[in-house]
Amino acid sequence: MTEAASARRKPFDTREMRDALSSFSTGVTIVTASDGQGAPVGMTASSFNSVSMEPPLILWSVAKSALSAETFRCARHFAVHVLSVDQVDLSNRFAKSGADKFSGTAFRIDTNGVPVLEGTASRFDCTTWKVYEGGDHWIIVGEVEAIARENRDGLVFSSGTYATATPIRAAERKLEPEPDLPNPLDDLLLYHLARANRQMGQSFHAAVRAAGLTVPEWRVLANLRPDAGTDIDVLGALTFIDPDLLSDLLLSMQGAGYCSLAKSGSGWKVRGTVKGRKKVSQMIGLATELERQAVGDLGAEGQQELLEMLRIIVSNTLPDDSRK
Ligand SMILES: Cc1cc2nc3c(=O)[nH]c(=O)nc-3n(C[C@H](O)[C@H](O)[C@H](O)COP(=O)(O)O)c2cc1C
Repeated sequence: MTEAASARRKPFDTREMRDALSSFSTGVTIVTASDGQGAPVGMTASSFNSVSMEPPLILWSVAKSALSAETFRCARHFAVHVLSVDQVDLSNRFAKSGADKFSGTAFRIDTNGVPVLEGTASRFDCTTWKVYEGGDHWIIVGEVEAIARENRDGLVFSSGTYATATPIRAAERKLEPEPDLPNPLDDLLLYHLARANRQMGQSFHAAVRAAGLTVPEWRVLANLRPDAGTDIDVLGALTFIDPDLLSDLLLSMQGAGYCSLAKSGSGWKVRGTVKGRKKVSQMIGLATELERQAVGDLGAEGQQELLEMLRIIVSNTLPDDSRK
């Protein structure tokens, strides 16, 4: 049976498979190597995983369609960089096929000729151990020769968007706290902001799903402009949705009548339809109601004050490079 025939018999299509896989949260890596001419090559990959401790083996898979696929299939050495939470821009840069990914990026070449990036959470320097064919991907298994670890939080990729990982504490898992022990976190603003954000976010995302949308669909709708439309690249940057997932998502949202796609120059513009805008108003109404319940006795005035205080915190904690 041909691969195409086998694909036809499946009770799901590629989009459904991608959607289902996107519920599996992963880290984000950039894998680098040098090509036959010694030029640096790299790509963003979330397929990284551990294989064995003895010998120390890891794997990742590269699409045969990637421009750098042959370089990675043939490379004797490569490095897997686990990205840190502040490396979203770097991830996007290395996810653009064929782009000049290394110009303007800080890197050095190690003794094996492999480009090494800075500011990552950890790095695995590998010798290629075996390469397997896996459908439309090459599965590359590497033997880890050296490890570099920095004290940085790793970036997360979940439901097609970048995220951060925050631990779920005992109190949120409805475990009884130790009665006589004071919680040292209880006086920290950071702790309460993180909990409020997570708990309100969970309630809102449940409301989004109850309204028949996925969270990425809601992010798209909330960022669409009704008039001139939004460039697909801008939408990708605003929603942090992986470009491959975004185009599939937009086609299915167009099919459902939430938005329309129109060619504009060399790209595409996306516009919200009347149905899409109605959905956004409905969701804003639900969010407002959730907020009213969350502030409880604080009332409308207290809520306004809280909003002002949070705006001040947001402004005071902007990363240095976004203040310019
Ligand atoms: C978060 C994220 C994870 C990705 N993971 C993989 C992966 O594991 N394997 C892969 O082949 N492509 C993956 N991609 C897509 C590649 O990064 C993208 O196709 C890249 O442009 C290929 O570069 P090249 O064509 O210049 O070789 C991922 C993209 C993103 C945004």
